[in-house]
Amino acid sequence: MTNIKATNITWHEGHVGREEREKLLGQKGVLIWMTGLSASGKSTIAYTLEHALVQRGRLAYVLDGDNIRHGLNKNLGFSAEDRTENIRRIGEVGKLYVDAGIITITAFISPYRADRQIARETVGEGSFYEVFCDTPLEVCEERDPKGLYKKARAGEIKGFTGIDDPYEAPEKPELVIDTSKMSPQEATIALVEMLEKAGKISALGE
Ligand code: ADX
Repeated sequence: MTNIKATNITWHEGHVGREEREKLLGQKGVLIWMTGLSASGKSTIAYTLEHALVQRGRLAYVLDGDNIRHGLNKNLGFSAEDRTENIRRIGEVGKLYVDAGIITITAFISPYRADRQIARETVGEGSFYEVFCDTPLEVCEERDPKGLYKKARAGEIKGFTGIDDPYEAPEKPELVIDTSKMSPQEATIALVEMLEKAGKISALGE
């Protein structure tokens, strides 16, 4: 899918740069990449963080796996090749959002280390924060909000991450969250602190 087919194309530089947009917004464009098993809490935390930031006057936006697969990535399934393409596209979209100056939060299982590394390189070191939702499989399976683990165990879904498809845990994530021990609010506080420390946003309330 990543075969290059576009030829005779020229990069066109605009008149407004990332820095100017960041100044306008009073924040730095950044990508918070949530990774973890289905039902590990990625989306819940992503939307809680988005809400907290917007309420405090920061522009944040969530790109969520299930939602993006309704539109942009509706032509992709769950084979290794399709998951790789799913993540490649999100890395590219994330890069655009970061260039726009937006605090971008992605919530995709993104099970392959190599794919996440490519996303990191696409967005750029220093703008990419990998956050591992390290919630034990048993907890995710117990939650099973969409009933998918049950179906996977029954063999009705093949290649389900964590059951009969791999998940490669990050080796050096910027943050680890175990949602069996931490509430979405506590995780949000930890993420906001991480952004503040990194100088991506000034202390909230300012
Ligand atoms: S990823 O692996 O390509 O990053 P993504 O985050 O976009 O996955 O989508 C995962 C969501 O798709 C899950 O939360 C679940 O609702 C649904 N899903 C359907 N089939 C599968 C499957 N085989 N493995 C994992 N998730 C699946």
